[in-house]
Parts: sequence; C-alpha cells; structure tokens
Amino acid sequence: MRYSVLTLFPDAVLPYTHTSIVGKACDKGLITVEAINPRDFTANKHRKVDDTPYGGGPGMVMAAQPLVDAYESLLALAEPSITLLTSPGGRPLTDGWARKLASLQHIVILCGHYEGMDARVHDCIPNVHEVSIGDFVLTGGELAALCVIDAVSRFIPGVVQKTESVDGDSHSATDIYPKGLLEHPHYTRPETFRGYPVPEVLLSGNHAAIAAWRHQQALDKTRRIRPDLLP
Ligand code: ADE
Repeated sequence: MRYSVLTLFPDAVLPYTHTSIVGKACDKGLITVEAINPRDFTANKHRKVDDTPYGGGPGMVMAAQPLVDAYESLLALAEPSITLLTSPGGRPLTDGWARKLASLQHIVILCGHYEGMDARVHDCIPNVHEVSIGDFVLTGGELAALCVIDAVSRFIPGVVQKTESVDGDSHSATDIYPKGLLEHPHYTRPETFRGYPVPEVLLSGNHAAIAAWRHQQALDKTRRIRPDLLP
C-alpha cells in the first residue's frame, strides 16, 4: 500500500509512521508513506495557502490551487486508488471501511486545516471521499490521516503478526453482530496484582468455558458502553 499524505505539517505525520507496527510495516516494504506539502506548490510569493471565505464568516479557507497542484505532482497513482479528505463532516471511519480500503494499492489523504478547503478540490481531484474519525473537531487533519493509515494497515496481510488478533479485536464484524462487539478484557502475569486476581476461568485451561466467558464479557461491555452496536 502506498499512502500519500498532503499536509502542511509533514513533521506531524512522518515520525509516527516510523514507530511500532506501522514502522515495521514500512521497514518490511508492506506500506510506504510519503508526505507532500501543498505550501511547496503555492503560486504566490508569500507561500500563502489560505484565504478569507467568500460570503464572509470567521476563519480562513485552504485555497484549492496549492492542494490541486500538490495532488497532480504525485507520480502515477498505484491503482486501484482513492483520495480521502479529512473532515469532521465526512463519512465515519469504521473497521469495515478500513478493511475495504486495505484492498487498494494507493490511498491519497488530503489533510484539512483552518475552516476547511475550497470546495473546488472536489471538482478538480477525481474520486475524493471525505472521512471523519469521530464526532469532534480537531485543529487539523493530520491525526485523522494517521488514524486512517493505522486502521487500514492492520488489515494488510503481514502487518499484524496473527490475523486472529485482528479478527478478535473490538468492532470486528461477525454474522450475528454485524457492527462487532467491544473486546473482552485481557490479563497477563502475575496471577494476582495488588490483591486483584485473574478471573479463575482464564486459568482453567477449558477453552470452551474461556471463549464463553470472553463472549459474555464483550456482550456486557457493549451493552453498557455502546448499545448502538447491538443488533
Ligand atoms: N478534521 C477536524 N476534525 C476532524 C475529524 N473529526 N475527523 C477527520 N478530520 C477532521
């Protein structure tokens, strides 16, 4: 997978992609992440990337020209590809969507800033989809871009060691629970920590009983915290 991130702040994006599981995926050549700065494509001498909104209103709007020129500077897209534009007004990023995105070869991510982008980026860049990482507003799209890269990369074969560990995670869909359940709790050594023991069943070696306990825990937690996920 090739990720191309168009961002005014490459330094906010690249360091994360060199760490942990995503970093290892880069080292193994399973993914590549490049950051392109639209400021390098400004056509004005002050390298200004934003301007006041037509029609008035607060804040600044990212101009279309530097973004579109930065997009067009990308070497031939690896196909199939998609372009995502980070926005609190976009389609919510879900595990299901991330899994589908992982089957592509190239994801271009335009990071929003200020009040938003000149809407004509949609006219000039093909196949743009707005993506939101939640019902809250960030100061910029870089964290959202990293969320996309991280969530999608987990579904690329070889990025996460055991595929079962991806399938058993929170939000993994099953036939009975199409929106998935929140994950059951985990425990590791020691058996007792500060007087709190590991639940007996996990020490029993009884795999059916362990699976049943975990499922019940997942169901209880989902009912408590995210009842909207239940069918
Ligand atoms: N930019 C600002 N807030 C955002 C959000 N919630 N998701 C994606 N991009 C954003």
